[in-house]
Amino acid sequence: MKRGGNAFDAAIATQLTLAVVYSNAGNIGGGGFLIGRNAKGENIAIDYRETAPSKASRDMYLDKSGKAQTMLSQYGHQASGVPGTIAGLFATYKYAKLPFKVLIQPAIDLAENGYAISEREAMALNATRESLVKNSTAPSAFVKDTKWKAGDTLIQKDLAETLKRIRDKGQKGFYEGKTAELIVEEMKKGYGIITLEDLKNYQAKLRTALAFSYKGNTVIGMPPPSSGGIIVWQLMKMMENRPLSTYGFQSVKSVQLMVEAERRSYADRAEFMGDPDFWKVPVKTLTSDDYIQHRMSDYDSSKATPSTNIQAGTIKESEETTHISIMDKDGNMVSITTTLNNSYGSRTVVAGAGFIMNDEMDDFSVKPGVANMYGAVGGEANAIQPGKRMLSSMTPTIVLDKNNNPYIVAGTPGGTTIPTSVFQTLINILDFGMNASDAVNKPKFHHQWLPDEIMTEKGFSAVVKAQLLTMGYKLSERGAIGRTEVIKVLADGKREVAADSRGDDSVAGF
Ligand code: GLY
Repeated sequence: MKRGGNAFDAAIATQLTLAVVYSNAGNIGGGGFLIGRNAKGENIAIDYRETAPSKASRDMYLDKSGKAQTMLSQYGHQASGVPGTIAGLFATYKYAKLPFKVLIQPAIDLAENGYAISEREAMALNATRESLVKNSTAPSAFVKDTKWKAGDTLIQKDLAETLKRIRDKGQKGFYEGKTAELIVEEMKKGYGIITLEDLKNYQAKLRTALAFSYKGNTVIGMPPPSSGGIIVWQLMKMMENRPLSTYGFQSVKSVQLMVEAERRSYADRAEFMGDPDFWKVPVKTLTSDDYIQHRMSDYDSSKATPSTNIQAGTIKESEETTHISIMDKDGNMVSITTTLNNSYGSRTVVAGAGFIMNDEMDDFSVKPGVANMYGAVGGEANAIQPGKRMLSSMTPTIVLDKNNNPYIVAGTPGGTTIPTSVFQTLINILDFGMNASDAVNKPKFHHQWLPDEIMTEKGFSAVVKAQLLTMGYKLSERGAIGRTEVIKVLADGKREVAADSRGDDSVAGF
């Protein structure tokens, strides 16, 4: 942006750079979603989610006895959908200002010359070493004979060459020619099914962003094939007419209310949500005030409602990711969440091309009722079909203030915890009046209908946990929930920013 680019230029350059310096989630072998609002006041939703290859089929991960083989949907060559990221970047480029070759050059330089890895990255690479070796067919930059340690230099020559092909040939530098051939050769070595035609046919899609009002502000989010925008819409509307700020931040009353809302919304996710090009997602009904209020009609503020009593509503007509929030001087805002799915995706490095393929096929419902790696279940709406996009939880979000001016850019990684993290972050700001840092860094909790338990982070109030137990809730403590990145515009126009302290996250501004 210092060189005259806008928030969209920054979004492209940052994603390409993360594909080099954050190999566990930054990617060119995965996909994502962008929610933007340009200075002219137009909302933009770009869907570059992966697609099921043309040879994919509904029961491809079931063995002869019908048992789901989730190892195959989570690891190795068969786990990958057709990557969408590079198509997404070129769809975004329409809104950018600088030459693409300028935007990609920092990534090329970092891949070619190397960069010093962080402590967290060294630990992640060491922990994933065995899986990377097992699922790749050739040595890669990510695996070395001795253990990685903080400060070691990671050089990725093959990836630099791939990025140069994209610089020189554009989208075709990835989806056709040498890069595409290397992907398909790699697939053939491990029973993978992505073909040259699948790559050539891949297209990012412009969608219509979801937008709803919350206490006079406008929240803009991602429509299907992400579930995130609908879930946040439902959750916020379930809160809007209740005195959350009187209940208090993470009081037993506010947590219980938010949990019961989450339970109901995730039941809808499992039943109704999927790729809208293949399945009629009843977005209008799911987001209508009447429907949302009806979903809370059996809410009991004195006790837990067992998930066995909650099914999806009746309708007459469904963890490792990374997030970037950007705002520029002209008021362009961009919120992007992008992913390989699992940390280091399928763990399959494309030999000769130097990047890791996603394991996004696991985000489909591989069998009705069988949980994916995030414990989420689904059914027909999210069944595998050739060319279909798997349901996502990614929730890039923008909020406008009461005068339609830029207010908040937010989002996070975290699998199925993404919508609830974004929801809590927005409520922390809009109802509990927190600054960006507290809104991001205070402990979070999560409920997703099934499993029927409240997951809490370390640091969540022991007193509130004890109260919830007496009300009939099951509780479990888990590791970090999300790594949320927030930009918040203050009343005087200054920007308050927060990078989540749960990760190696960072902020920059000028
Ligand atoms: N792979 C995580 C998600 O898209 O929700």
